[in-house]
Amino acid sequence: MDGRQQPTKRSTKKQRQPEDPIVTANPHRRTHASHEKHASSSSSKKQSLIQGLLLSILFFFLSSYIVTDTWLWGYNGKYKNWRRWVPRKQLVFTQQELAQYDGTDVKKPIYLAIRGEVFDVTQGRPYYSRGGNYGFFSGRDASRAYTTGCFQTHLTHDLRGLSPAQIADVDGWADFYRNHPKYYKVGTVILEPIDPLSPHPEDCNKPIAQKPASQ
Ligand code: HEM
Repeated sequence: MDGRQQPTKRSTKKQRQPEDPIVTANPHRRTHASHEKHASSSSSKKQSLIQGLLLSILFFFLSSYIVTDTWLWGYNGKYKNWRRWVPRKQLVFTQQELAQYDGTDVKKPIYLAIRGEVFDVTQGRPYYSRGGNYGFFSGRDASRAYTTGCFQTHLTHDLRGLSPAQIADVDGWADFYRNHPKYYKVGTVILEPIDPLSPHPEDCNKPIAQKPASQ
């Protein structure tokens, strides 16, 4: 021994440390790290996308309110009615069952039918309650009266004898209820068949006999 320190014999097998670039360059670790980076960048992208979307929605409603004084740019169609967005079971009424919803009982909704379709018109209570201007439409299918205006004798679903234009008129009213922002369809009514041999409902718009003009 000459006092000089002999370099310790190093193991030929290199001990790899975690900070060793070779270790860091381990393809598995790199993949894991880049996955993490990728995941965090995509989640922040998602977050800013959601933020952008929410801001646009807010902008849509606020600017509509400022410009048109309404929240939906003046839209007042059927899709404004939230009930349209909730799927509901359609009811089937007999005429007698439907008659219970004629607006007499204030605790019950008001239903009316046109062309066999039943609509909830409770929101139009001032028109459709008993005593309302159009209360005679409630609790029944009075399709015929919608075109003839015979509000006493034509409160029936019997459309025999009407012209195609009058039928189109009735269908126009049915569309009115279908597309109304406050009314909505609740089901259908089973209408009693009309005896084809029975006379057509009498026209109420016949010219009323005039008093002879006084001379
Ligand atoms: C065939 C004839 C007619 C039918 C079938 C009919 C039907 C109706 C119905 C169903 C409503 C209610 C609308 C709702 O639910 O929002 C209504 C409202 C109204 N009707 Fe008639 N109508 C007729 C003729 C008339 C006539 C001749 C007048 C005027 C002299 C009139 C004036 C009104 C008025 C002022 C309202 C209220 C409108 C509102 O405030 O929004 N209607 N009509």
